[in-house]
Order: sequence, then C-alpha cells, then structure tokens
Amino acid sequence: MKATERLLLENKAWVQEKLDQDPHFLDHLRQERNCEIFWIGCSDSRVHADEITNSAPGEILVHRNTGNQVCHFDFNLLGALEYAVHVLKVEHVIVCGHYHCRGVKAAMAKPLTDLTFANKWLKQIKDVYRLHRREIDAAGDEKQRWDRLVELNVIEQVHNLAHTQIVQRAWNNSRQPLLHGWVYGLNDGVIKELISLTPDVQLDPLYQYDLE
Ligand code: CO
Repeated sequence: MKATERLLLENKAWVQEKLDQDPHFLDHLRQERNCEIFWIGCSDSRVHADEITNSAPGEILVHRNTGNQVCHFDFNLLGALEYAVHVLKVEHVIVCGHYHCRGVKAAMAKPLTDLTFANKWLKQIKDVYRLHRREIDAAGDEKQRWDRLVELNVIEQVHNLAHTQIVQRAWNNSRQPLLHGWVYGLNDGVIKELISLTPDVQLDPLYQYDLE
C-alpha cells in the first residue's frame, strides 16, 4: 500500500474512532473558540505541538518552519503572528525548538551543495551561531555544541519576536502576550523552559518602536 493510501484509510479510521468515543466530536470541532496560545515550532515531523502538550484541536494556533525561525521578512509568519496577537489576542506566544534539530545541525556546517533556498533559510541560524560562537564552541563535544546552538537559537527567536512592531504594539495596548522560549527533548520527551519575556523587558533602543 502506498503511504498516501494509508493516510486516507487511517483518516477514515480516525473519524470513526473519534465518533465512537464522542458522537458530538465534529460538532465541538466546528465551534469557533479563541486560542490562547500561538506556537512557533520546527517543521520536523517528530515534533507536533498538539501531541507533545496533550492539547486538543482548537487549543493552539501553530506556525512551523525549519529551525523555528522568527524572520522579519517572513510574511507567512508575520501575518499569522499579527492575526494571533491583534485579532485572537492570544495571551502567550511560544517559540519551541528541539534537540536533535537537523536544520540547526545543517547550519553548523558548510552550505549544502545544490540547494539554493534551504541555504538562504539556514543562514539565519548560521548568524545565531556566529553571534554566540565563543560560547557554543566552548560548550564541549559536537553534540553539546549542537544542543547549545538549539537553545541559543530559541532564545534569539524570542528576542526577534520582541523586536517586531506587532508585539510591541500589543504590549503597549494590552500588556500581552507573554513570550516564551522552550526546547523539547527527543531523549526524554520533556519540554524545558529557556526564557520568558514580559512587556516590562528593557528593549535595546535599536529595536524599540515609538508607539502612542
Ligand atoms: Co528541527
């Protein structure tokens, strides 16, 4: 059986299983409710926000890309962030990275031959490496350096969030959302908190918008 055939079959089995458990499952699913959480995670197929946090459909608005980047030129992310923060008025924005991130590992080596756009994307993570090179190279063996770049990459992305006009305007208007940086471990399945930023954080004036 082809992989896609299996997915369609499993979809039918999933609907039936859900309806057996709760005949009103689809009625609940259709009801609109505001998410309190916007999640920015890695595209990696082993790291699903709902799955690792035991969340139900409708609880978390999710955006994913390679290496959980907050890029100020990524209109896909910025559009979703703007909607989450200013329309849904989410209370929390979480950047969740993960150890064993292949995107981060690729960024620690030379650019990938024959790949144009993947290299452009990974450059953002290379810049994080360059910014913290001394600390990362002192972290220990190859795996320890990889782990530290995973962590520092998450922390940098949380700062990138705080540097958006979207977040600063929301902080100015309503003192939310709170920003969180987390890292998920594929060894133990546990999420570790790395950083959180509140509207009281002292921003570098280089990144601070003048807002009324
Ligand atoms: Co990854």
